[in-house]
Amino acid sequence: MNQDKWTSVDHYINDLFTAADPIFEAVLETSRAAGLPEINVAPNQGKLLQLLAQAHGTRSILEIGTLGGYSTIWLARALPADGKLVTLEFEPKHAEVARANFVRAGVSDKIELRVGKASDSLAQLVMEKTGPFDFIFIDADKESYPDYLAWALKLSRPGTVIIADNVVRKGEVIDANNEDSRVQGAHKFNALLAAEPRVNATILQTVGSKGYDGFALAIVLE
Ligand code: SAH
Ligand code: DHB
Ligand code: MG
Repeated sequence: MNQDKWTSVDHYINDLFTAADPIFEAVLETSRAAGLPEINVAPNQGKLLQLLAQAHGTRSILEIGTLGGYSTIWLARALPADGKLVTLEFEPKHAEVARANFVRAGVSDKIELRVGKASDSLAQLVMEKTGPFDFIFIDADKESYPDYLAWALKLSRPGTVIIADNVVRKGEVIDANNEDSRVQGAHKFNALLAAEPRVNATILQTVGSKGYDGFALAIVLE
């Protein structure tokens, strides 16, 4: 582990490619002030999400796990003027902070924030026939990742991109007997994703200011 170096290089990358933006700084500051956990994606990861959504011509996005809206705003800024993003959050306090941040960032018109257990909101989205979504970002409770994959597939079309954050967990994910329920959730999710005939997928390990982790990237097939 070389956390200091990873953090320094993240600062170097972010100085080059994610120049200081008062909106993003305010999002993190209001989140911190409200006592939210600092588990938002790093700036360069937020930008990667934005780039992937843009490269894919994304017009509709589903996010599972809003927190203070940091990743949401990166993604919303990838959308065209008539694009839509639905984001799901369980904690009313997180949702309240996120709502204020969407207004601050001028993206609230594009965003629908649904408060409640994601599994309930996802069932509701399927029932309403909202979707299919072009791009889905899974980043809520790790224990439910296997369920979220099933819901994501229901809310997809051929070509939908699915990204799942935090599926490497400091490398602990290779241990099928790890006792941390979050590691178990990621382990099961990765196995399901690999065995899923409806997607083509991979996982990338990441290091940086947020430590050592990784994300899964999948495309839904014809
Ligand atoms: N995507 C955010 C970080 C999300 S952190 C970013 O990068 O900026 C994970 C969030 O998922 C937390 O806000 C947590 O409250 C929420 N969460 C946890 N369990 C949930 C559930 N069952 N349904 C919906 N949201 C949940
Ligand atoms: C945790 C959750 C996240 O979404 C993240 O990016 C980092 C950590 C967590 O629950 O520990
Ligand atoms: Mg995450």
